[in-house]
Amino acid sequence: MINIKAKNILKIKDPYDEKINFFMPDGYALGKISTLESILLIKIMRIVKASYIFEFGTFKGNTTRLLLENLPPPANRSIEKRVFTLDFPNMKNIDFKGEDKKIAKISVRNKKIEYYKCSRKNLVEQILINSKEFNENKYLKKFQFIFIDANHKEEFVRSDTEKSFKMISSKPSAIIWHDYNNPQYPDCTRYIKKLSKYKKIYYIKDTMLAVHLIGIKIAS
Ligand SMILES: C[S@@+](CC[C@H](N)C(=O)[O-])C[C@H]1O[C@@H](n2cnc3c(N)ncnc32)[C@H](O)[C@@H]1O
Repeated sequence: MINIKAKNILKIKDPYDEKINFFMPDGYALGKISTLESILLIKIMRIVKASYIFEFGTFKGNTTRLLLENLPPPANRSIEKRVFTLDFPNMKNIDFKGEDKKIAKISVRNKKIEYYKCSRKNLVEQILINSKEFNENKYLKKFQFIFIDANHKEEFVRSDTEKSFKMISSKPSAIIWHDYNNPQYPDCTRYIKKLSKYKKIYYIKDTMLAVHLIGIKIAS
């Protein structure tokens, strides 16, 4: 793992307007990403000039909305699906670690999906399936930005990661894992650490984000 600071990402230039769309946090942290992580995800999405993005783990759709509302052009004009977000329809036969079961129960019952209220919601394709059963072959090399944040048990993180490496497009692009170094999910951290022996992975200090960048240089 290569440790970096948020500023190492934030100082990479991107071609877009400095204005971003942000949403006031409601103070309820369970299953959500932090404010700094939110800004970094938007920045990485801009650095890779993402046309298509994929998220493992929709939950309430907060991050889906954040990414959708900051998706680089041509989001306004395009009617094609550009944001793909996956969650399961029920919890049958799935094992969980840490807070994942609590989050999954809320997720399955939750009807208030945040991105439903966005004017760009027609750009989102929601995929309801256990991520292990999801067929990635339909999306080979399609995405410039993939966010892995579903089930944090090692077997799921591994499966979601292997699918991501097949779905990630050529440079510039990024695969990002959430919950690296989260004490709730030692499996997730262990798996990403193992992977970092074969793939260049950055851990961003003061966050739980681990990032694999393709075709993007990080200055120290
Ligand atoms: C931490 S939440 C995702 C949070 C979301 N990415 C965000 O930033 O707002 C994890 C989600 O993964 C889903 N999940 C857990 N195991 C899954 C599986 N095997 N397949 C698909 N989704 C799963 C849960 O239902 C939950 O909604």
